[in-house]
Amino acid sequence: MSNKLNIAIAGLGTVGVGVFKILTREKELISRRTGREIEIVAVSAQNKDKDRGIDLSNIQWLDNAVDLASLDNADLLVELVGGSDGTAKSLAEATLKNGKHFVTANKALIAKHGFNLAELAEKNNCSLLFDAAVAGGVPVLKTIKEGLVANNISKISGILNGTCNFIISVMSKTGRAFDDVLREAQDKGYAEADPSFDIDGIDTAHKLTILSSLCFGTKPAFNKAYIEGIRNLKIEDINFAKKLGFSIKLLGVSNILDNKEVELRVHPTLISQNHELANVEDALGGIKVECDALGPLVMTGAGAGMYETASSVIADICDVAAERKTFPLGISVKNLEQAGYSEIEDHSGEYYLRFEVKDEDGVLSSMASLFSKHGVGFGKVTQEAIDDKSANVILLTHKETEKYVVESLKDIEKEDYCLSKPIMIRIER
Ligand SMILES: NC(=O)c1ccc[n+]([C@@H]2O[C@H](COP(=O)([O-])OP(=O)(O)OC[C@H]3O[C@@H](n4cnc5c(N)ncnc54)[C@H](OP(=O)(O)O)[C@@H]3O)[C@@H](O)[C@H]2O)c1
Repeated sequence: MSNKLNIAIAGLGTVGVGVFKILTREKELISRRTGREIEIVAVSAQNKDKDRGIDLSNIQWLDNAVDLASLDNADLLVELVGGSDGTAKSLAEATLKNGKHFVTANKALIAKHGFNLAELAEKNNCSLLFDAAVAGGVPVLKTIKEGLVANNISKISGILNGTCNFIISVMSKTGRAFDDVLREAQDKGYAEADPSFDIDGIDTAHKLTILSSLCFGTKPAFNKAYIEGIRNLKIEDINFAKKLGFSIKLLGVSNILDNKEVELRVHPTLISQNHELANVEDALGGIKVECDALGPLVMTGAGAGMYETASSVIADICDVAAERKTFPLGISVKNLEQAGYSEIEDHSGEYYLRFEVKDEDGVLSSMASLFSKHGVGFGKVTQEAIDDKSANVILLTHKETEKYVVESLKDIEKEDYCLSKPIMIRIER
């Protein structure tokens, strides 16, 4: 057996404790598989006195996590603190500048600072690995970087946030409203006290930014993402979608257009009930990668959790132990391209539209002429009474450019017969 790989861990919360427990429990198995023993030599967290159910008696404790980066006896630092800036960023920079390897599960950090950190890692000839940052336990980034190395990728779509998927799944199964299910998700520990990062789509956009960069060889561009969360998702639309043969999911989608621009968008999406991701329910995640040589590849599994996420973090640590090297963002930062990003108003797709209207003569023909004014065509039209004076009208458009659909909706909303703001949800095939 060659020399040990000594590691330090910053952050001993859900994931940190998971990593600690598996590395301790599976020490022998892991050293057999990597050909090298992995030893935890130091840790840091906020509260030294907290009982974490792990034995830290023989391990050095540092109050300031950033000091872990300067330890002479640590070869690799694992960051499981979280946050795009502050401690996580200082630690990443200090570690890589000191020529040590850095492993993290922190999507916010990589989505925002991934390019600079990858540059530092390459310059100092060390590994920067973050597979757990996207889809938790599912080894998506490793698969894209290594398993799909021979493929051109044209599109990636994913259910990337377990909290949102749990909320939508429960709404769909029980018919309960969003606020009610969100409270249940918070009670069960699936959603934070402040759930905005999850339900407003930010977390999904962080992960999509990383995926898009790896798939298309482009610089991460979180600020180019169009982001719409699930806060305004109505149970009526989940139910109407079901009747029309669709499921609703919060999807992150990134694809390359014919003009070479990249779409980077997060929004509630109707997908056919036959779509590969339609049955990814509850807190699970799923990703579909469309490749030229392999064709479509779908990966599903636990997107979060103590041991699930630790599984990916440890796989990254083992890559360093076994001296398997890859570029942090799939290709060298020198060769990453600055992509052009298309605006959401130029998105071309099909749309689910719902209008609450007065149930009176002439409404459908007025709506039809306003759509026609903007050149928007539609196929299926469904009408369902709300009470004896009003009805829901649901339309599925043909493939149209978003700005013309939006202009049609604005015109229809101005009409007396339109009782509330129309609902528009994108459809993905
Ligand atoms: N939870 C998941 O399922 C999951 C899945 C995928 C990715 N991730 C990512 O993994 C990372 C960790 O998540 P988590 O769920 O394990 O978080 P967590 O349970 O909140 O744990 C955070 C840990 O960081 C410590 N900490 C906070 N501020 C610190 C500081 N300034 N210096 C040193 N330590 C500090 C905390 O110390 P105390 O314990 O003393 O308070 C705690 O141990 C995040 O980036 C998250 O996005 C998590």
